[in-house]
Amino acid sequence: EKGGYPDFMLKEIHEQPRVIRDTLAGRLSAGALEIDELDLSPEELDLIDRVYVIACGTSYHAGLIAKNLIEAWARIPCEVEVASEFRYRNPIITPTTLVVAVSQSGETADTLAAIRDARVKGAKVFGITNVVGSPVARESDGVIYTKANKEIAVASTKSFLGQVVSLTLLAMLLAQAKGKLKTSQVRLLFRELADTAEQVERILADDAAIQEAALACKDASSALFIGRGMGAAVSYEGALKLKEISYLHAEAYAAGEMKHGPIALVDEGFPVIAIATKSPVYDKVVSNLQEAKARGAMVVAVATEGDEDIRAHADHVIYIPKVRDAFSAITASVPLQLFARAIAVARGCDVDQPRNLAKSVTVE
Ligand code: M6R
Repeated sequence: EKGGYPDFMLKEIHEQPRVIRDTLAGRLSAGALEIDELDLSPEELDLIDRVYVIACGTSYHAGLIAKNLIEAWARIPCEVEVASEFRYRNPIITPTTLVVAVSQSGETADTLAAIRDARVKGAKVFGITNVVGSPVARESDGVIYTKANKEIAVASTKSFLGQVVSLTLLAMLLAQAKGKLKTSQVRLLFRELADTAEQVERILADDAAIQEAALACKDASSALFIGRGMGAAVSYEGALKLKEISYLHAEAYAAGEMKHGPIALVDEGFPVIAIATKSPVYDKVVSNLQEAKARGAMVVAVATEGDEDIRAHADHVIYIPKVRDAFSAITASVPLQLFARAIAVARGCDVDQPRNLAKSVTVE
């Protein structure tokens, strides 16, 4: 049932183009975006003035990506919080607050408790889950299913991409309802979002540079992932994936934070994995790379195809197709999944079933 792949994780990574296509199927009708199952009228959507995305682990990282899009497109303040923190404080919730609970399994204890709490306080709650009829689906006011199909590997990959695509749709929907995106803009964005399926296929077709970078890093005892904007969110997920399946200690930082502490870790050969795709903050990331390189770091850069200049600042470059910055998390996350897996395999780890972890966390 691994479909010819050595492990479920690799099989699931390769299913991601299909997940993107299925998650988008049927969403654009007469040029406008439709998510009927949310059961809120455009007028009700227009009233939303605050969004909280609540989740744990990888799902939380999908939320960090969503925050960028919701604020950029819909201009609604959005906070992302781990469910175990959210549920034990007293967040500001009103009837015009939207809580978006993201959970692959749909049964994470803290996320469910946060949903219940938010509803008692009067918020509307949307669930984003992969499991039909799961508690998160049942207890939310509306639900978007991620269409990843069953995910077996403990490390989330395809469900993460399904979450990011679903949250991107939600951000577009909110922007559409608020009149911040015109129909023509929504159509254009939707088309480019759909194109990421083919771009991910291209990344999956050639992993030579990823394997090479992984071999160079596999014996390290620690690694740092850095990026800015979308790249920061991608870094957090890249570091989680690596530590989860390879037991190699990894941390992620918004690249601008390097000189406020983490750069002290960098010495000869220390791996720094940087998301350095073309974006409004590209130059800033490159200057952070240079600072790390000057202290002996072994730099692995995830960069945009055609960017030859980056080679001067990196020991290994992993090229990915050019996409709009808003969609860069979708493409840039994929090489980091493959990178983490390649290191885990090289270190002899059980990729699908890492120690101490369970696929769903139903106790707090
Ligand atoms: O099922 P959920 O999305 O609620 O699970 C949340 C986390 O437990 C989960 O994402 C975990 O971090 C994964 N093992 C990461 O790969």
